[in-house]
Amino acid sequence: MRRAKISIIGAGNVGATCAHWAAAKELGDIVLLDIPDRVGVAKAKALDLFCCAPIEEFDSRVIGTADYADTANSDVVVVTAGIPRKPGMSRDDLIATNVGIVRDVAQKVAHHSPSAVMIIVSNPLDAMVYTAWKASRFPTNRILGQAGCLDVARFRAFLAMDLGCSVEDIQALLLGGHGDDMVPLARFTSVHGIPISMLLPKERIDACMQRAKVGGGEIVQLMGTSAYYAPASGTIQMVEAIVKDKKRILPCAAYCEDAFGVAPGDKGGGYFVGVPCVLGAGGMEKVVEIQFDAEERKLFDESVSHVKDLVGLVRKAFPDLG
Ligand code: NAI
Ligand code: 2OP
Repeated sequence: MRRAKISIIGAGNVGATCAHWAAAKELGDIVLLDIPDRVGVAKAKALDLFCCAPIEEFDSRVIGTADYADTANSDVVVVTAGIPRKPGMSRDDLIATNVGIVRDVAQKVAHHSPSAVMIIVSNPLDAMVYTAWKASRFPTNRILGQAGCLDVARFRAFLAMDLGCSVEDIQALLLGGHGDDMVPLARFTSVHGIPISMLLPKERIDACMQRAKVGGGEIVQLMGTSAYYAPASGTIQMVEAIVKDKKRILPCAAYCEDAFGVAPGDKGGGYFVGVPCVLGAGGMEKVVEIQFDAEERKLFDESVSHVKDLVGLVRKAFPDLG
């Protein structure tokens, strides 16, 4: 059986850590690409990582490059190219720089790997997935964004810390855009099947939800740049579901029009927002709809409205992406 080919665009913190998790899980051969000025970094990180193979016992090949020809015919392409935020910045502040980068990268990915599933990680996430979709002209099942896997993992981690239980027993759901207005859903959160509301008082659940919503900012404040271990881990959770055709249900930024009432009947088309999806060999194989209560609906709609504003800025910067 042919090994999967996984290309990662951007060999910075998130990209290199994605390569690390993908190699450790032996998901396929890995190409780490950066701009020509940073090709030395891409090559060095790839070589350093491959030299772990004899110790960690993985047979994934890892190469670094600045040449898209090396990424040709990838099965999955992860896009982490772009600047991360610094203390005091929101993800939205990155849009002016990252929209041009992601547009250019997505066009090159589409040219060299026309059948790939493309996973966008660059921020502001939901607007960058939209940018990559328009630039690549990929069908909506083969383009999606990573945010929900990370945000749910943070929510689960904070609940486990509060409860003093194993993270493995916590199931949670979090939807909407990847901003501080993301929507953790306590009603769909449980500990080995026991509703979270039976184990923790509302104030403590609310505190964990709030910490998850601003969890990215907490790390930026501490470190001066954005997180990368958990973002990369969330991304590789998606890659694994795709290359192993696992049909996992994971929260991803996926294309929605009628689904979740995101843009019903909107002639401008749909938007990419965090919703539960089935991930398999076909990429995003299905959006799994759930019924919101009134409060959840209000929060989700507010979050989607923020995503729409960001997409408006993308369309203004590049009218061809409209
Ligand atoms: P970084 O600065 O460590 O790495 C970014 C890399 O992209 C650099 O090596 C840079 O040379 C490269 N790059 C820039 N333009 C490029 C181009 N045109 N082609 C190829 N490579 C290019 O940044 P980091 O921490 O890896 O973050 C990357 C992006 O991911 C940021 O936009 C950040 O906000 C976002 N992010 C998203 C998360 C999510 O959950 N969706 C979580 C964490 C970060
Ligand atoms: C995070 O949530 C910055 O989006 C990135 O850590």
